[in-house]
Amino acid sequence: MRTYLVTGGAGFIGSNYIQYIMLKYAEEIRVINFDKLTYAGNLKNLETISQSENYIFIKGDICDRGVVEQIFCDYDIDRVVHFAAESHVDRSIKDPEIFVRTNVLGTSVLLNAAKAAWENSDGTFKKDKKFLHVSTDEVYGSLEEEGFFYETTPYSPHSPYSASKASSDLLVKSYIDTFRFPANITNCSNNYGPYQFPEKLIPLTIHNALKGEKIPIYGDGLNIRDWLYVTDHVKAIDMVQETGRLYEAYNIGGHNERTNIQIVKTILQVLNELLADSDSRKKYISESLITYVEDRKGHDRRYAIAPDKMKVETGWYPETGFEEGIKKTVQWYLEHQEWVEDVTSGEYQKYYKEMYHIR
Ligand code: NAD
Ligand code: DAU
Repeated sequence: MRTYLVTGGAGFIGSNYIQYIMLKYAEEIRVINFDKLTYAGNLKNLETISQSENYIFIKGDICDRGVVEQIFCDYDIDRVVHFAAESHVDRSIKDPEIFVRTNVLGTSVLLNAAKAAWENSDGTFKKDKKFLHVSTDEVYGSLEEEGFFYETTPYSPHSPYSASKASSDLLVKSYIDTFRFPANITNCSNNYGPYQFPEKLIPLTIHNALKGEKIPIYGDGLNIRDWLYVTDHVKAIDMVQETGRLYEAYNIGGHNERTNIQIVKTILQVLNELLADSDSRKKYISESLITYVEDRKGHDRRYAIAPDKMKVETGWYPETGFEEGIKKTVQWYLEHQEWVEDVTSGEYQKYYKEMYHIR
């Protein structure tokens, strides 16, 4: 039985990934979810599989060397899939240090623990051990109107978040180059879908619209992101480990560039379609909620991924069209209002008040 150590498995993408592999491989695998449960981690994301005998949750911090080493002692780990990170750009602008700690130091701790557990006495590595570092397209910086990010595009991060992710990528690359450490790096574009914390544009827009609250758009609203449905991302991660070439980096993206204002308007349209006329929240759904606010500092203008290498080498492509994906996403949030209420009570209110002054 193959054993996966998934870090950050209680977050947005990690929980979608665990659900995906537990369904796909069923009894063939055991999954250890190692997560600190920060504001972004929520065990409710994994309620459907929490009783499975093949699932183990360990609460802990990837920066805690003792605990991480102990996991590698207690279990014969075959795959590390490393999601755990501080992931929100705005928070990194307010408080960069935790991003360096978790994203850089935490990755270093994990690399060292995996290396120590997997290395043979002659410096080679045990067979079929793999470490996948989940990273972002933001490491490449910002594009003008034309062009795409390729795996060969030089790194040029702008925010403390993307700088910390770039640093962690380089650390992984250095282990590959120096030790021939069995790793891959994936650099993905913006994800959307179920279980995304409502600090990010898409769930924040849905949440505010349903409450009749203003929807903050940074700057002129014309910044472009390349949106990918989260299930397509987690499939890609699995395909890199199953059929990708070890030691390689792969770009993953949706071929789906939209301006932020287009995204927000689309969500409002979908809400209008999906809400019954009798639903009291329908009266709020209007473009008049859109409120232009001060721009994000250092706001990258455009991201666009060229996922050609993924397509050619693994056969992966983004299966979910945006119209389908955004409908599924809005529907999920409509059906999971309790989950939203739960994660937006308490600390979120304080964060929102400090971050936005538009209520
Ligand atoms: P998220 O913020 O939803 O989840 C992060 C998870 O990591 C949470 O469960 C949190 O509790 C956990 N965590 C944070 N610090 C930890 C620590 N010190 N020790 C252990 N666990 C810790 O993030 P996400 O959006 O799911 O992103 C997951 C990964 O994918 C990140 O590495 C991110 O950089 C990358 N990524 C995200 C996107 C996106 O659009 N969301 C796109 C590309 C890449
Ligand atoms: O590109 C991949 C990255 O995508 C990931 O590495 C990050 O972890 C993830 O958070 C995401 O980063 P972004 O900064 O692109 O996502 P966010 O949802 O925060 O913002 C998307 C766009 O919307 C961005 O141009 C900023 C804008 N925005 C965001 C918020 C939260 C607004 O206009 N208003 C808002 O209130």
